[in-house]
Parts: sequence; C-alpha cells; structure tokens
Amino acid sequence: MKSNTFLSTSEDLLDKNKNNYSESLYIFSRNSVLTVAWSSSLLFALYILAFYVGSTIKGHPERWNQILPGLHNPNNITASNGLMLHMLAGALILLMGCLQFISPIRNKFPAFHRTIGKVYVLSSILAAVGGLSYILLQGTIGGFMMNVGFGLYGLLTLFAGIKTFYYARLKKFDKHWEWALRLFALGIASWLYRMYYGFWIILAGRLWRTPDFQGSFDMIMDFFFYIPNLIIIEFYIRYKDKSIHPVLKTIVSILFLITSIFFSIGTYYFTKYYWGPAIFEYLNN
Ligand code: HEM
Repeated sequence: MKSNTFLSTSEDLLDKNKNNYSESLYIFSRNSVLTVAWSSSLLFALYILAFYVGSTIKGHPERWNQILPGLHNPNNITASNGLMLHMLAGALILLMGCLQFISPIRNKFPAFHRTIGKVYVLSSILAAVGGLSYILLQGTIGGFMMNVGFGLYGLLTLFAGIKTFYYARLKKFDKHWEWALRLFALGIASWLYRMYYGFWIILAGRLWRTPDFQGSFDMIMDFFFYIPNLIIIEFYIRYKDKSIHPVLKTIVSILFLITSIFFSIGTYYFTKYYWGPAIFEYLNN
C-alpha cells in the first residue's frame, strides 16, 4: 500500500516534470519563431520603404523593374499608383503586426492598441485594394494562375480586414481576436512568399521556376504562401484551449525550432543580398 502511494506520487511527479519540460520548450520555441519572424518582416518592411518608396520619392520609380520586369509601367500610371499605395500599406502591416499580439502592450496601453489596430486594419484593406486594382488594371507577371492566386489572397485579406474591424465595433472581442489572427496570418504571407522562394533558390536553384513565374513551383507558390498559414491559424483558434499531450507539444516545439533556423538562414541571405544593400544605399544617398 505504502509502496503504491509512493509509486503513484513519483509517477505524478514524473508527469508534472514532463509537462513542465514540454511547456517550457514550447514557450521557448514559440517565442523564438515569433522573434525571428518579426525581426525578419521588420527588415523586409524597411527594405520596401527604402527601395520602392525611396526610389519613387527620388523620382526613379523605373528602378522597381530591377526586381520584377514591368512592375512599373510608365504607360499605366494608375496601376503603378495602386501598387505604390499597396507597398506603403504592406510595409505598415509588417511594421505593426506583432505589436498587436504582445499582451503587456495590449493590457497596459489599450488606447495605443486601438489606434495601431485601426491603422493596421486600414492598411490591410488598402494593401488588398491596391494589389487587386493592379491585378485588374495591369495583371501580374505570372499571368492567369498568379492573377487567380494573388486575387484570392487580396479578397481574403479584404474580407478578414473588414471582419476584424466589424467585430471590434460590435465589442465581440472573441470574434475580433479570431479574425485579427486570420488577418495577421495573411499579413505575414507576403513576407513568407519571399522566404519560400529564398529556400527554394538555395536548395533547387532554377528547378520548376521560369523568369515569367509560370513554372510548376511558381504556380504552387501562387497559393502556398497563404493557404497553409490560414490552416495553421484555424487549428490554433479551434484547439488553443484544449490541453495538448506533452509528446505532441514537444513535436510542435521541435518544428518551431527548425522553422526558426530556416527563417534565420533565409533572413541572413535576403539581408546580405537584397534588403541590406537597398537600405544602406537609401541611407547613404
Ligand atoms: C503585408 C502585405 C503585403 C506586402 C508587404 C506586399 C509587398 C509587395 C511588394 C514589395 C511588391 C513588389 C514586388 C516584390 O518586391 O516582390 C508587391 C507586389 C505585388 N503584390 Fe503585394 N504585398 C502585400 C500584400 C498583398 C496583397 C493582399 C495582394 C493581393 C491583391 C498583393 C498583390 C500584389 C501584386 C499583384 C503585386 C505585383 C506582382 C506582379 O506583377 O507580379 N500583395 N507586393
């Protein structure tokens, strides 16, 4: 009897230790993936401001075409203006997104949270409207499939932005939070798109890619940069209050850690070859 009591107590302790261990690993890995994602998307936002907005302010919007041929079309200034609005709003989304999910900021400075929230939702709507108008007026470099993939992305972003705002106005904060998470998943998609391309170029070079973005990899990417994020967020929204088995939690933590390493490698290369030089050039001229 005594030994049974002793055994059950030590098993309880062991379970508790396992739970503590998997919980700490989970928090550490989740925080590292968020920190890397935020730092990397901040650098991407600064690059957008320095390169696209900077070259337009300096009177050289034709420099956009160094990144994607035909992005700036002097014969279709309305489309270029739509894209400019889109990129400015996109940079704001990336700069502000993570701030909204830091609970101490949200709890201590509710007025700041509300103001940033309004700017965030408005920027998402403007980025989507700007991108959609560019697709309608000019069309993407990748043609039909890219128009469909990016068009759907724009419509989803527009819808999520309106829903987030609508539930905040109704003070239905549970629903507001869910739609804000979906909007966030869509907001970081444009950054993830660059990361996926970065990894693919490192791993496979030109395989299944074409200069006009019509290779098999390009076509998969037209949808892949936002659909998996939305599925992951949907799982999170549905299961966030359920207790997760420590083994599953450890597997998720390991996936988070691997993702952090991949994002860090991608960020390093993008910063070295694209983002860093563009930011330095803007600051030095
Ligand atoms: C955080 C949100 C976003 C950011 C930061 C962003 C950023 C950018 C940037 C920097 C470009 C220039 C091309 C490049 O450097 O690769 C671009 C192009 C473009 N974006 Fe976005 N974007 C965002 C959201 C969206 C949304 C919601 C749509 C949906 C309609 C969209 C559609 C497009 C299109 C159609 C182009 C032109 C691509 C082409 O012609 O091939 N973007 N975006």
